[in-house]
Amino acid sequence: MQSLQPIQVTNDRYRLGYHVMGPAGWINDPNGFCYFQGYYHIFYQFYPYSAVWGPMHWGHARSKDLVNWETLPIALTPGDPEDRDGCFSGSAIVKDGVLYLIYTGHHYYDGEDNPDHFWQNQNLAYSTDGIHFEKYAHNPIIATAPTDNTQHFRDPKVWQAGNQYYMVLGSQGNNKLGRILLYRSTDLKDWTYVGPIAQAQLGANEGYMWECPDLFTLAGKEVLLTSPQGMVAKNKRFLNLHETGYFIGQLAVEESALKGRSEFQELDHGHDFYATQTTLTPDGRRIVFGWMAMWESKMPEQADGWAGALTLPRELTLKAGHLWMQPVRELRELRLQPVIDRAIQLTQPQSLISTGRQAELVVTLNCATDTQVALRLTVGTARPLVTLTYDATTGQLILNRSDREDARYGVLSVASSTLKLDVFLDTSSLEIFVNDGDVVFTERCYPTQQPHFELSGSAVVDGHVTLYDLAAQTVKYEEDKRC
Ligand code: FRU
Repeated sequence: MQSLQPIQVTNDRYRLGYHVMGPAGWINDPNGFCYFQGYYHIFYQFYPYSAVWGPMHWGHARSKDLVNWETLPIALTPGDPEDRDGCFSGSAIVKDGVLYLIYTGHHYYDGEDNPDHFWQNQNLAYSTDGIHFEKYAHNPIIATAPTDNTQHFRDPKVWQAGNQYYMVLGSQGNNKLGRILLYRSTDLKDWTYVGPIAQAQLGANEGYMWECPDLFTLAGKEVLLTSPQGMVAKNKRFLNLHETGYFIGQLAVEESALKGRSEFQELDHGHDFYATQTTLTPDGRRIVFGWMAMWESKMPEQADGWAGALTLPRELTLKAGHLWMQPVRELRELRLQPVIDRAIQLTQPQSLISTGRQAELVVTLNCATDTQVALRLTVGTARPLVTLTYDATTGQLILNRSDREDARYGVLSVASSTLKLDVFLDTSSLEIFVNDGDVVFTERCYPTQQPHFELSGSAVVDGHVTLYDLAAQTVKYEEDKRC
């Protein structure tokens, strides 16, 4: 049998400048986000041999500052008896100076022809240097799903509270509804099933499978972040193939329940955001990464030998009943000289042109009650790649893309006479943070030449705009470390 060779990037026209990507090949979910021995570590679902999804490995990068990343050797490779057909998503935790990875082993039976013929278990690996990982000799740590579960049983997220470790797992009950299971352990190796803490209600449009759970406390409440599959689009919400969002409640471990859980709210309103994972920084901030893509979306970079990237790391806060997302403050280090920094009136449309393909646009506009604003990302005279409109009367934001039929929507939760946009442009992505992260849109977009912004509006009182060129190549890939 011919041995597989890692795929190479053949064209860097869409390669991102300051986002975490794989060195080549396919990536999806962020995994194992943690802080260990002075570094942030981020792992990701990775297939190094092709630009499409395949048997999942864990790719790996680390950073001292959440800005500059160093790609490390692959951390987990599938093929052992307990992860024969894939090392699926999972998390990381530090215990007694050792970094543990907790991940799902994926297994097909009867060949791979029937996509439902699989089973999943949970496994452990560990490292003392944060670079080389060894799988635990007594894997699996959880061999089978509860009897009232289907084969969908994956994506462990582990945390510590006092002397206990807890794990939430994504699952599907036998009733074919999504749910989250809770386990507990004192040593990360022996786990006891506590029960389901939250489940989709029949007829409530909450999805048939809940992937990638995460549970944490913010502002005295528990937030259960998860990625349900199978929610149906409704009133301009849930428009992606699968959604990422959260429930707010109060975790009662003894009752195995997230009590008083709120309705599901989407975390990001863009086309390209899924399968999030968070960690706590040493100074107490809750930071989230997402996969900057969506299953089954077109990914033009596949023609170039790679696919997928992670979003910028974002700080989460809970205010006014929902989660706000802001780019982490460390990202200000990316700013080079401002290309534009001036007051504006918007009586005329403004063309805002950065020098390179990496830029940050910061706009503040004082609005009247009937103000309308449009921000476009344009190449030449072609139809804008991305158009964001804002209507101050309703607080509604609408995002359109030239390569997609379907718009995306958001509404400011806190009314304001000021519209603030913080927009991060990279070679093939756009992340738009509106009013300090009240509403966020994450998009992939593929300009073939240098794009520019165009800002226009009516009844804008006045405002200010700053456009920065941003540093590129903050992620280092070393040839000899690719596999
Ligand atoms: C989410 C997901 C996870 C799974 C992984 C496989 O995008 O489907 O549930 O662990 O991707 O790559």
